[in-house]
Amino acid sequence: MNATWEAAADLVVVGSGVAGLTAALDAAELGLRVVVVTKDTVDAGSTRFAQGGVAVVLGDVPGDSVEAHVADTITAGAGLSDAAAVTEILTDGPAAVARLRARGAVFDRRADGALARTREGGHSAFRVVPAGGDATGAEVERALVAAATDRRLPLLTGHVAVDALRDDRGAVTGLAVLDDAGRPGVLRAPAVLLASGGYGQLYASTTNPATSTGDGVALALRAGATVADLEFVQFHPTVLYTGPAVGRRPLVTEAVRGEGGVLLDRAGRRFMTGVHPLADLAPRDVVAKAITRTLTATGADCVHLDGTAIPDFAHRFPTVHAACRDAGIDPAREPIPVAPAAHYACGGVVTDLHGRTSVPGLYAAGEVARTGLHGANRLASNSLLEGLVIGARAARAAAADRGAVRSAAACLVASPAVPIAPRAVVQQAMTVAAGIGRDAAGLAAASDRVECATAVAVPEDRAAVEDAALTLVAQAVLAAAGTRTESRGCHVRTDFPERDDRWQRASLELTLDTAGRPVVRTGTVVAA
Ligand code: SIN
Repeated sequence: MNATWEAAADLVVVGSGVAGLTAALDAAELGLRVVVVTKDTVDAGSTRFAQGGVAVVLGDVPGDSVEAHVADTITAGAGLSDAAAVTEILTDGPAAVARLRARGAVFDRRADGALARTREGGHSAFRVVPAGGDATGAEVERALVAAATDRRLPLLTGHVAVDALRDDRGAVTGLAVLDDAGRPGVLRAPAVLLASGGYGQLYASTTNPATSTGDGVALALRAGATVADLEFVQFHPTVLYTGPAVGRRPLVTEAVRGEGGVLLDRAGRRFMTGVHPLADLAPRDVVAKAITRTLTATGADCVHLDGTAIPDFAHRFPTVHAACRDAGIDPAREPIPVAPAAHYACGGVVTDLHGRTSVPGLYAAGEVARTGLHGANRLASNSLLEGLVIGARAARAAAADRGAVRSAAACLVASPAVPIAPRAVVQQAMTVAAGIGRDAAGLAAASDRVECATAVAVPEDRAAVEDAALTLVAQAVLAAAGTRTESRGCHVRTDFPERDDRWQRASLELTLDTAGRPVVRTGTVVAA
């Protein structure tokens, strides 16, 4: 690939959601020359679709504490969260939220002027801070984009990241990109931060926007980084069901259940009672599994979420209300048809608590990263907080690492030919075999299906870069899911239905072999 242009920066940030823009703003304040690269428009990532809020303990909710938030996160993580990571990230939360508010984000207030709170699955307290009712992500994105615009941060929209450039020792020296017309360009920089979101588009039905195609995980793997916990794909239990459909589906926030909504089967019976002490507000994996069980038992396509007892539904949940009305449903008067859909990647590129990956100069923050916070199942609304905290820390790490000695020779390995399968084949295979309920035969068949549909080619435009990422990440998820012979958190194996303590704290790490295929390595096993 011959670049048609070159530019230089101290830090290239890939992605313009909460983690990316927080990192970029902080890095600019630290004096770094920053460029933000995004393949679409600046607000096209998943941040703006986050509904519930930011989970954070600000000290104004009687009885709540950071320790309680830590305990809830670890419980939701089903034994695989890293307790030190959870404590550090959640302890940093209040300061991170204060910085976000100083940058202009406005959170909802109660009639008495205090900050409003809501509750979501797995939380033992009303600690989730919402904005715009159920439009928290949109407000966070608005505030950060406005701050970036005020500061005149260079934003390169319509450019997809293809590969990290590395020197002869493997350290990052920049980023190769393609613009919307497929023209190649090069950004030279000693630091590249991946903040490119998750991979919900691996599945036919997802809450994620079209941009969530796993580009960051694929790029990191090709650059030699380690990824982990990919098998833990979180399905959101309540996504508006309007019939079989492919692509992004409207979320019905857990806060609807936090404020009294209840799940009903086709006979109108509450089926979460007795399943978990928190009933409808059990952690997300428990609810999604119970819904799947109910659908299988009744043969129905969806269950129903009854929020008719919630006062002034339209005002409290304007986003959900609008999506329901578009589908001809009045959630203030009738239960909402819902079903689970792919929602969040709990695993990703392995980083320390400063966003550093195993590749010098490559950083990751937000959904693309795996810090140890989420374990086997993310606690609701912990993700915006993680993006704020790790985004800021990664900016400081990139600034601190600036003096690291690097070879001057920056080599752009000519954009390599990579395996690419058609997106529809990948989505169909993943939906059938790697949703809630997986088994060895299905996972192996899905892997074969993707492999058979794969051709090796040099990606020449955004769609091909995305399809290559989806192909590689699908094979990595299938390999990890096939290796973990137990059920835990959001990884549900029908052939190994029980949690197995031999897998306690064993993260499955993946790297690529010399042929570019994902290889799974089992981490340390520590008895529970
Ligand atoms: C929700 O509002 O239910 C989703 C929030 C999240 O995924 O953290």
